[in-house]
Amino acid sequence: METYKIPQNFLWGGDISAAQIDGAWDEDGKSPIELDYYMGANKNSGRYAYIEDERGNSKKVLQWSGQIPSGTHYVLKEGELYPNHFGSDFYHHYKDDIKLLHEMGFKALNLTMSWARIMPKGKEYGPNKKGVEYYRSLLLELKKYHIEPIVTLYKYDMPAFYVTQMGGWSNRQLIDEYEEFCHICMTEFKDLVKYWITFNEINVFFLVNKNNPNTTPQDTQRVFEETHDQLVASSRVVQMGHEINPDFKIGCMVAGALSYPLTPKPEDARAAQKNIQDNFYYFSDVIVRGKYPYFAKRIWHENHVDLNISDEDKRNLQKGTADFLAFSYYMSNCAEADASDIAKNAGNLINGISNPYLKTSEWGWQIDPQGLQYFLEELASRYNNFPLLIVENGLGAEDTLTSDGKIHDDYRIDYLRQHIAYLEKAINDGVNLFGYTMWSCIDLVSMGTGELRKRYGLIYVDIDDQGNGTFKRYKKDSFYCYKKVIATNGKDLS
Ligand code: BG6
Repeated sequence: METYKIPQNFLWGGDISAAQIDGAWDEDGKSPIELDYYMGANKNSGRYAYIEDERGNSKKVLQWSGQIPSGTHYVLKEGELYPNHFGSDFYHHYKDDIKLLHEMGFKALNLTMSWARIMPKGKEYGPNKKGVEYYRSLLLELKKYHIEPIVTLYKYDMPAFYVTQMGGWSNRQLIDEYEEFCHICMTEFKDLVKYWITFNEINVFFLVNKNNPNTTPQDTQRVFEETHDQLVASSRVVQMGHEINPDFKIGCMVAGALSYPLTPKPEDARAAQKNIQDNFYYFSDVIVRGKYPYFAKRIWHENHVDLNISDEDKRNLQKGTADFLAFSYYMSNCAEADASDIAKNAGNLINGISNPYLKTSEWGWQIDPQGLQYFLEELASRYNNFPLLIVENGLGAEDTLTSDGKIHDDYRIDYLRQHIAYLEKAINDGVNLFGYTMWSCIDLVSMGTGELRKRYGLIYVDIDDQGNGTFKRYKKDSFYCYKKVIATNGKDLS
């Protein structure tokens, strides 16, 4: 009997994010975002920013280490390097870059719309005309090449003043601000964009808090509240979007979090199951099913969290279920009931126990292509074959630009090929996956380390960690490989 095939209209493409690729951090009315204050780091250290109190005393804070103290604000220090200020200068290169994506045959581009560029001073001051014009021009460029935009509305790029003056997501008023920003995007671009993603990695606060050894019970309470507010915000935007244009397809994105039991011990199997429940299903169930899962009570209890969910919130979550579930997938890890003495591995937001059967990337992330099929099939069976979209899957590695302008990145080709082979197996089994956008089609600043040497792109950008370079683009070997994959609708993985 024939198996299912990759649909002809499958969305093959890649991802970029404004905060990491645009540069032009203070041009044309954009206001600074938090990342604009974080300096570069490396694989052994996190990113730091300077904050200052009212008396002018300054100190360094670590990225993801929780809220900055009230009464302080971020400051830039002369002589320090801020990689997100220049990124890959996509803001001034987007036309040529999109042309290159077209040359690869891209069917889709997952991009983020920068909140700080579109509504830099908040709802009260309305949209920034230049920001809106920029995105219109970018979207028209995509349209010219028949590249379907998938627009992520929130990815680490809200104006920093929301954090320093309002307390960020811990202030429920931010939902209204976010909704207004989304309203501007969805009305301005209602004829140019069909696919929207309300939040990137909506489980990120939770994961970061869980991995932070200095977390306090107050932090945990706040993080659960903030995450709840984001889920409500997402559901409100889904409803609003459907009113603006009933043809919109609106999803939400969760960071993939696959855990295997380290041994066949039943306790370890339960530890792995619990990991996925806590890290992923707690979020995806709300997005897909419109309510928290039965085990949410256990999670709140274990975390000593008291979440007050109003009837109105419950109604919104129920009415604003997404049209598709998007997720990122970089790696997997293992779980063990008693993990105290076991080596942990680093990873994309998730620290777990190392899997002896998997290799790791140069940055210590475990590479698990088959896990992608496993995860897809788990999601398909849990959600009755609900539409799924893979956004973000890729390999961060150091590349060498040869003297004749080539980049022989066979390691990235291997990574992509293997993951694509397994996603095809999942589709053959009948999983309703409608697209794959790999991270990141163009080199950009690493989120976790602020490095440029940690490259994910199919297109190399000549810029280094110190900001030296020409920003010239070069096609890597993986560029040609992915071009073949797309041209043959996934058949040619040679
Ligand atoms: C994802 C983020 O979690 O991981 C991206 O959404 C990020 O923004 C990607 O770039 C890879 O992480 P890093 O730290 O290597 O840039």
